[in-house]
Amino acid sequence: MDRAQRAHEVSVSDMGLIGEVLAGLTATPKTLPPKLFYDAEGCALFGAITELPEYYLTRAETAILRTIAPDLATLLPAQAALVEYGASDEAKGAILIGALAPRLYMPIDIADGALADLQARMAHSHPTLPVQPLVADFMQPLVMPSGIGDRRVGFFPGSTIGNLDPEAALAFLRRARADLGAAGALVIGVDLEKSPARLIPAYDDAACVTARFNLNMLARLNREAGADFVLERFAHQVIWNAAQHRIEMHLRSEVAQVVMVAGQAIHFAAGETIHTENSHKYAVPRFQVLASRAGWHTDQVWTDADGLFAVYLLR
Ligand code: TRP
Repeated sequence: MDRAQRAHEVSVSDMGLIGEVLAGLTATPKTLPPKLFYDAEGCALFGAITELPEYYLTRAETAILRTIAPDLATLLPAQAALVEYGASDEAKGAILIGALAPRLYMPIDIADGALADLQARMAHSHPTLPVQPLVADFMQPLVMPSGIGDRRVGFFPGSTIGNLDPEAALAFLRRARADLGAAGALVIGVDLEKSPARLIPAYDDAACVTARFNLNMLARLNREAGADFVLERFAHQVIWNAAQHRIEMHLRSEVAQVVMVAGQAIHFAAGETIHTENSHKYAVPRFQVLASRAGWHTDQVWTDADGLFAVYLLR
């Protein structure tokens, strides 16, 4: 089924996001919640981002996971429950599943349509593996299903942890420790800090797919929250913030304008931006400090041949 035709797609109002949206748009500086990215259109655009020549993250991480899969099989318990945080698809999870032969796969994501598609595909590709998807915001405390057992392996790929502020990343890592239990392990993929000359194009590609992904937030508010953004009056803007070790994505108002959102007038000065996303980058020692503050010990770190990306095994 085409995701765009899915009848059960969760809307901005169902998600109770209107209040968050208006709070962000009336704050200084203006922001929008990144959760808004992931409607059906946003999920499809994100899939296209992962295939862009400039977006090296997915290819580098996948190469690492393929290489280390046999090591992971010896380092991690057999018959574990594999819990994947932010599992928009099963491509990377399937690499771990092949190596670990878990007894349960629990993909967690905010995008219900993507999870339903994932489950349908898994029924064909892994017919004997129990798959128990959870539609949830992984930033909220999770309710683990009863009978999940002690052997739990968490998986948090895609450098999604970089989309959290360091404080939220720390809180996530602490909560994951609680979710996964004293015997648990966490396999986590984190983009390495590198030259802005390499980083910026990954978020500002020549084909403008990332720009469309960013602008889709405004299109979504037009579709679902009665907003009247004129997309041509906003531009995708990417900044490397060296002090905070992060890529920032913004939507810049090209003119002074007033936009209606859910009945409220939002005023923009010319050049004013809405800050939509951060992607924090971590050198290995800096990430290890963060993990250890959350109570995790780094068992192993692997990087790809080009030194672009890192995968950690934490215990
Ligand atoms: N975590 C990935 C990254 O930071 C994917 C991602 C999240 C992303 N939000 C994004 C990629 C916005 C491009 C634009 O790269």
